[in-house]
Amino acid sequence: MSFSCIRLSKIGFLLSVIFCAILLLLIPKFQTNWRPRNYPQPPPPVVFNASSKTDIPLQQVESSSVDHLEDETPNIVPLVKEEQIEKWSHHITDTWRSKLIANGKMNDRPVNPLHNVANDHVGPAEVSAKEKLELKDIFIAVKTTRKYHKTRLNLLFQTWISQAKGQTFIFTDWEDQELRLRAGDHVINTNCSAVHARQALCCKMSVEYDKFLESGRKWFCHVDDDNYVNLKNLLHLLSGFSHSQDVYVGRPSLDHPIEAADHVRNDGSTTVKFWFATGGAGFCISRGLALKMSPWASLGSFISTAERIRLPDDCTIGYIIEGLLEVKLLHSPLFHSHLENLQRLHSEAVLRQITLSYGGPENKRNVVSVGEVFSIQQDPTRFKSVHCLLYPDTAWCPSLMVK
Ligand SMILES: *[C@@H]1O[C@H](CO)[C@@H](O)[C@H](O)[C@H]1NC(C)=O
Repeated sequence: MSFSCIRLSKIGFLLSVIFCAILLLLIPKFQTNWRPRNYPQPPPPVVFNASSKTDIPLQQVESSSVDHLEDETPNIVPLVKEEQIEKWSHHITDTWRSKLIANGKMNDRPVNPLHNVANDHVGPAEVSAKEKLELKDIFIAVKTTRKYHKTRLNLLFQTWISQAKGQTFIFTDWEDQELRLRAGDHVINTNCSAVHARQALCCKMSVEYDKFLESGRKWFCHVDDDNYVNLKNLLHLLSGFSHSQDVYVGRPSLDHPIEAADHVRNDGSTTVKFWFATGGAGFCISRGLALKMSPWASLGSFISTAERIRLPDDCTIGYIIEGLLEVKLLHSPLFHSHLENLQRLHSEAVLRQITLSYGGPENKRNVVSVGEVFSIQQDPTRFKSVHCLLYPDTAWCPSLMVK
């Protein structure tokens, strides 16, 4: 009796040792298989820690937020060769197109639908019969700072914002009575710091995101205070989709995806590769997708997500969408930032773009070429000239313009 008991427990012990060993061997396998579906939990609030700075010295990213960053260089490594990107971007456009075709939303044309916005051959009615989108369905967030209330913002109020007062929300960092009188509750004082540093920018983006969700509108579009928004073209682009689809559209900041140490899904020992839309050119996100972002973006979690991967605001958006939710950025050439050579845009193409920009004080000549409605002295940014070509009835436009 006691003999067999001892024997049995020995065998039992041996079996459990073997079982444990097998389990241990299998663990790495499970991990890799599960990771793609296993979304990480939103990180707990992170205490900012200057000593935990970047481990890898990396290349500067062409992010609107990065160009004058006052804090550390983000940990980004350019990864893929250009030939590959060429291939990828075809793939991205193609899968998207075949989906539209499969849903009967588009004719099988050998064209990139994003380019269709630029010509009038394919109207929104042909692209989507589903949704009649109106300007009031769009939430346009303009990011600004105290320093630019009088200059940059006034120009926008005079021009495109005058045509979209109900859609536009100004996100700033200062309570300004004059601005408040002008735009009322469409001015949001984020209470974020006015420093042009990563944390402050992420703080503003976080408030923009929350206000958009609160607004109940169908599309979130973010622009900077040096962007001209062509409202008709923006509406035309977004009408091609349904707001309940997962849509993230804008201009990729680089010609390759970026790679960042992954501090959200693990300890940063592995990296994640993704594209992001440069904030300085403006980008849009559908409500359906914005809702899926909420574990990493809503109520301040955007700031901790950005802190974990140590990336600027627009990169963090790309990271959440491409890296975590595995939704692809739709690359559009119709969005423009001050980092591009804007003179390269043909003058007849200027009015077909969705956003425009102009060079800063150190690069005053970097403006779009547009017919001489106003001289370069009267209209150094060219926004007034663009506006008069689009809305010739505007009171301050030269009367000759009215046909
Ligand atoms: C900023 O602070 C003011 C005053 O405390 C407050 O009324 C406002 O709601 C705050 N803004 C945000 C976006 O929280």
